[in-house]
Amino acid sequence: MTSYLNIAGLKKVFGTFTALENVDLDIQKGEFVTFLGPSGSGKTTTLMIIAGFEQATKGKLTIEGQSISNLAPQDRNIGIVFQNYALFPHKTALDNVYFPLQMRKVDRAEGIKKAQAMLELVGLKGFEHRHPKEMSGGQQQRVALARALVFEPDLLLLDEPLGALDKNLRESMQIEIKRIQKTLGVTTIFVTHDQTEAMSMSDRIVVFSQGKIEQAAAPLEIYHKPRTRFVADFIGESNLIPATLTDVATRRAESPLMGAMTYGDGATKDLRDGQEVTLVLRPEHMKLSRTPIEGRFHATMKVETIVNFGDNALVIGKRDGTTLRVRVPGADVVILKEGDDCYVNWIEDNVYLVTE
Ligand SMILES: Nc1ncnc2c1ncn2[C@@H]1O[C@H](COP(=O)(O)OP(=O)(O)O)[C@@H](O)[C@H]1O
Ligand SMILES: [Mg+2]
Repeated sequence: MTSYLNIAGLKKVFGTFTALENVDLDIQKGEFVTFLGPSGSGKTTTLMIIAGFEQATKGKLTIEGQSISNLAPQDRNIGIVFQNYALFPHKTALDNVYFPLQMRKVDRAEGIKKAQAMLELVGLKGFEHRHPKEMSGGQQQRVALARALVFEPDLLLLDEPLGALDKNLRESMQIEIKRIQKTLGVTTIFVTHDQTEAMSMSDRIVVFSQGKIEQAAAPLEIYHKPRTRFVADFIGESNLIPATLTDVATRRAESPLMGAMTYGDGATKDLRDGQEVTLVLRPEHMKLSRTPIEGRFHATMKVETIVNFGDNALVIGKRDGTTLRVRVPGADVVILKEGDDCYVNWIEDNVYLVTE
């Protein structure tokens, strides 16, 4: 399948600082892709280059095979929503949404009709004549979304659009944005530093770190098959266990902390005995017990802190000065209290190998 948006060899330098390096990415038509990464990892810069507000230092950008690098932002047919809404304060919701059509010289009667339909789609029927200050944050963000979509853009870019909203509103807006995106089928890039938001909304997640793409894959693949240590650590929770491969043929490794163990899945390329690697053990895949569970790998741990979440609890413990995190069902935690010695137990299938 040929891709819709293609980014190849993208590099961006600000003065002496390299903000992006070797960014390659293909996005399919209609896809909902999320850029996820910590603050400063290059998400916004990539978005601004796609939108045309920043010039790339190096690299190629094409939509359906046509270069867009030399097009001015207004000629790219891209809709953008920022975190701070950026609505015109003196225009009504309706006139805010009509504005991009006005810029495109769409006849007022026809444009207003389109703007009304778009406000209805984002759930703001009846709010047409309100000014931004007469609307809540969530409503203003819906207006911004309607304004970005009203001219039927080829691409919708959303830069942390829900960052200013409280948790409940955020969750309902996530569902709304997904619904609207599906209804219109518009190719979308959504930027966030919130992994749960990325997990719940995306067809594909692109994980950024320090100006590079660490991994681009479907949410569950990112979670279950992290390509790098960084991804394993950033997405979900992980115990990252340093180890040395002792026998690649039988998937054996030796960890100074946890002892000898076999691993289930993970990197397969260019492995050799003696190689230093990282074994990923997810907290929810380990079990705690008073006595070792037969048929499992196990190690002792001293419980330091128990954080109860009701349905589950996070048990933070220490082994040889290293912190281990285990997540257990809420009901299971009653067997333990802080200061107790216990066993962590796991099986080979729970151990994932990363080499980068
Ligand atoms: N105009 C600029 N001048 C200098 N440095 C910049 C500029 N824009 C962004 N940067 C730097 O580039 C890096 C990536 O920024 P950005 O793309 O905004 O990150 P993110 O959106 O992932 O938080 C940061 O270190 C930031 O300080
Ligand atoms: Mg940003």
